[in-house]
Amino acid sequence: MQLYKRHILSFIFSILFVLSQAQPVKWVEAYPGVWKASIGKPESFNLLSVANVAPNKEALGRLGKSSFPLKKTDIEMKVVDGKTYLRFPLEVGEQLFGFGLNFQKVLQRGNIMELHVDHYGGVDNGRTHSPTPFYVSSKGYGVFINSARYIKVWAGTAVRKDSPEFPEPRDRNLDPNWSAAPYSDAVEMLVPAAGVELYVFGGSQPLEAVQRFNLFNGGGCLPPRWGLGFTQRIKTLYTSDDAENEVKLFEEKGYPLDILGLEPGWQSKSYPGSFSWDRSRFPDPASFAHRLLDKGVRLNLWINPYVSPSAPFYKEIKPYTSSHTVWLGNIVDFTIPKARDIFFNHLKKNQLDIGISGYKIDEIDGYDNWLWPDVATFPSGISAEQMRQTYGLLSQRYSFDMFQKMNKRTYGLIRASNAGGVSFPYVIYNDYYDHKNFVTALINSSFSGVLWTPEVRSSESSEEWLRRFQSNVFSPLAMINAWSDGTKPWTFGDVEEYVKEYALLRMKMMPYWYSEFAKYHFEGTPPFRAMNLENGFMQSLDTKETNALNYAEATHSDMKDQYMAGENLVVAPMFTGEIQRSVVLPKGNWYDFYTGEYVGNGEVITVQPGLSKMPVFVKDGGIIPMMPAILHSPKPGQQVNLEIRYYGKKPSTYMLYDDDGTTFDYQKGQYSWRKIKFDINAVGEMVGSISDPVVGKPNSFNNISYVYMTK
Ligand code: GAL
Repeated sequence: MQLYKRHILSFIFSILFVLSQAQPVKWVEAYPGVWKASIGKPESFNLLSVANVAPNKEALGRLGKSSFPLKKTDIEMKVVDGKTYLRFPLEVGEQLFGFGLNFQKVLQRGNIMELHVDHYGGVDNGRTHSPTPFYVSSKGYGVFINSARYIKVWAGTAVRKDSPEFPEPRDRNLDPNWSAAPYSDAVEMLVPAAGVELYVFGGSQPLEAVQRFNLFNGGGCLPPRWGLGFTQRIKTLYTSDDAENEVKLFEEKGYPLDILGLEPGWQSKSYPGSFSWDRSRFPDPASFAHRLLDKGVRLNLWINPYVSPSAPFYKEIKPYTSSHTVWLGNIVDFTIPKARDIFFNHLKKNQLDIGISGYKIDEIDGYDNWLWPDVATFPSGISAEQMRQTYGLLSQRYSFDMFQKMNKRTYGLIRASNAGGVSFPYVIYNDYYDHKNFVTALINSSFSGVLWTPEVRSSESSEEWLRRFQSNVFSPLAMINAWSDGTKPWTFGDVEEYVKEYALLRMKMMPYWYSEFAKYHFEGTPPFRAMNLENGFMQSLDTKETNALNYAEATHSDMKDQYMAGENLVVAPMFTGEIQRSVVLPKGNWYDFYTGEYVGNGEVITVQPGLSKMPVFVKDGGIIPMMPAILHSPKPGQQVNLEIRYYGKKPSTYMLYDDDGTTFDYQKGQYSWRKIKFDINAVGEMVGSISDPVVGKPNSFNNISYVYMTK
């Protein structure tokens, strides 16, 4: 009897123990294909609450239904000792992408990270400019943890003793198959909070899960047309005369220029900043800004948001700043409305109102020895950790807000972001300056809901300059950042001709870039993205043909040096010292972008493009709408000639996006999609056509011509 009682008691205890450990999770379908769950007490200050962006319900609806992508009972969540433990299953052969803006690798299975906003320090350990807590599986689903905490991630590294796939232990002494990294069947995460809200995104392919994540975050940003032109950031101590001279030189030499970036020297004091014009260098900022605007050039101002005692609003804002400083500047608590009013009203009155078009918001990411420590306090009571994870989001949200209220689009630069920031019109950059890693970051940006520019500063050789410039042109922001060295596009004389060709190509491709960004906004498809997001890209490794096997293996390798630019292009950057490289072409026929010649189909090719070209390939049926190489983006109402390039042989269509290019009127329906179509006519010829401009909507194009690139 005693024994029996003891059994019952121990049975009850074990039930209670299990209940306290893993709580049953209820998944609610918040939007089609988007499921939400929560555990414990989720914090009200989180990435989504900070960004405060409404999901694009209609577009999520258009993506249609999807089924819950995982076995619900394989997902475990529990709160232990004030922290949340999460476990998601992994299958054999499944690959993982994302976990923020990584620079070294695209494939993340096997990585251990602590997601922490920081300047990237050379290791993919979670410390990066946007440590977005979102990952995508090659099986076509995504997982997002909505927490503004430093989340630890074991992305398929740890093995639990109750694992259904527990590997066979081997003898290291004698067995050559012994592994120091035995097979792991889960992604495990530790959120240092007593509860969290999380989301699962379904999809038939990885791209669909990414689209859902982006649309859930409001859809990608739609930059103004001018944002997709060319940006030159000038030397920090340049005066307004130097700046105007730079603009004149661009004009005289025939280089495109849409944005001129002023670095810290526009301010009377910086690091910490006064946020006020230096009158010795910029005696009359308003007329300076207007003279540039008249020439079709916009000004972007560098700031870091740490306030100097010499800022005119210093005394007023001081009560709303942190216990600690950054470079002796006061850190504004942007979660407090009054603090925001003081800060942003000053920017609006002294900068936006005189014609400034955007900001570069610097140094809100790291490093630790520059930023506030985790023991800093903020008047709102938000912890230093949460502030660190969201300062980039807060800066984007409220600076963007000023422009929105004026019905003017902006396109700026930012050094920190996070999930939630997808729709903010900012591009991430940094000081790391490794060309190869910059390209990998561009690829990974497509899994993290952010945009990235592989900016060009200076170079050790003409070759490096040209190679960096070429890949920069095929990115969200084509920019030279000459803040320190004053380089110009023509600095390296022996490659100047090629540099100019690419600078002008950037302008010619504006109708394509703009349409691809519109797809980011309306459909959630990142304009520059990983090959792994190309539907059907990863091929089965079971194939029997040897050639196909090489190809299939290549599609499973770490594809970190080539990417998709929009719907139709594969871009394969060249790096210094390389005369040839291999390119993995997805299934289907592919054509050379410059000549229209056939290059391959579902295979690995080797190319030797020479110095003047960066390899770019176009899909069969690829349509690229182009315009003349004008030096400044078209103004609202200005019409440009439209040259529609067609590659390959397959009948196809392309949706060309149009709106006024500068305001938010597109949100009220002032936009159109025109259908470009290539089809075979009655006598067997391929003929292009485009639907009529939509009556009552902006029409930016005239004189339409068709160019058949493949002879
Ligand atoms: C760096 C930034 C550079 C440049 C410089 C000016 O932090 O990354 O692009 O703006 O500051 O001091």
